Amino acid sequence: MSAILIDGKKVAEEIRAELRLRIERLKKKSITPNLTVILVGDDPASQVYVSMKKKACEELGLLSETIRMPIQTTQEELVERIERLNQDPSVHGILVQMPLPPHMDSNQIIEVIHPQKDVDGFHPINVGRLVAGTPSFIPCTPAGVVELLTRYGYKPDGKHVVIVGRSNIVGKPLANLLIQKTPAGNATVTVCHTHTRNLADFTRQADILIAAAGRPQTIKGEMVKEGVVVIDVGVNRVDDSTKKRGYRLEGDVDFASVSEKAAAITPVPGGVGPMTIVMLMKNTVQAAEEQSGLV
Ligand code: GUN
Repeated sequence: MSAILIDGKKVAEEIRAELRLRIERLKKKSITPNLTVILVGDDPASQVYVSMKKKACEELGLLSETIRMPIQTTQEELVERIERLNQDPSVHGILVQMPLPPHMDSNQIIEVIHPQKDVDGFHPINVGRLVAGTPSFIPCTPAGVVELLTRYGYKPDGKHVVIVGRSNIVGKPLANLLIQKTPAGNATVTVCHTHTRNLADFTRQADILIAAAGRPQTIKGEMVKEGVVVIDVGVNRVDDSTKKRGYRLEGDVDFASVSEKAAAITPVPGGVGPMTIVMLMKNTVQAAEEQSGLV
């Protein structure tokens, strides 16, 4: 069986085209959506992510400022910086790039961001609204996964979706989205994690399998059934001396063996990654619309 490749770049472009119309409407009212990103320290992967977000904003005509703070920044200094952005009416979205340095309390930082500017959807108010099924900012990666599935016609409705990984950024919000009584939800969801016994017993039951474990080679061909739809959320740096930069990017799924059995699968890179970024743009546009009374 040769699996259909789920092309995240193509779907992201479709969504960008939709966003351009909404951005034009805002610009006619002299509003340019502004995403401000705070990066504390110099984690190499975070630097790459932050520059990709800035580039994506610029390509769509959004304003994007990156505030770089040194690794020694105190919790209080970061709180103060966020509070200033909360008060600034020209800033519609605030994103604090994770992970923060170990001396900081990221849960407390997330709670400082004004919920209306929380384009990551990490604030407990937005998490609560997601669980309750009332409108909110939906975390970008889970929102991107649902868009990929529905736009490719793999509707989760009535399907058994198995999620491997229970992070606050992906696994938990995704499970909540997929069990909602909504057109893109209505799935039966199983969440597996590091303490799950006999992982393969669960993954083999999946009609849709979502790998978000943060570990390469977590899902192998013998762990899935024929015809499964696989979404690989993993972005792992694996040492590779044949590459100029010294590493390659690998998902959580062993693509070679799983794609033999899957009906459809996302590549890494080019699957979920471009979707995450475009959903951040979407949340920023939504934030600007809400703050300017356009919706
Ligand atoms: N680090 C990895 N993923 C994310 C994300 O979606 N948002 C933020 N703020 N940091 C991250």
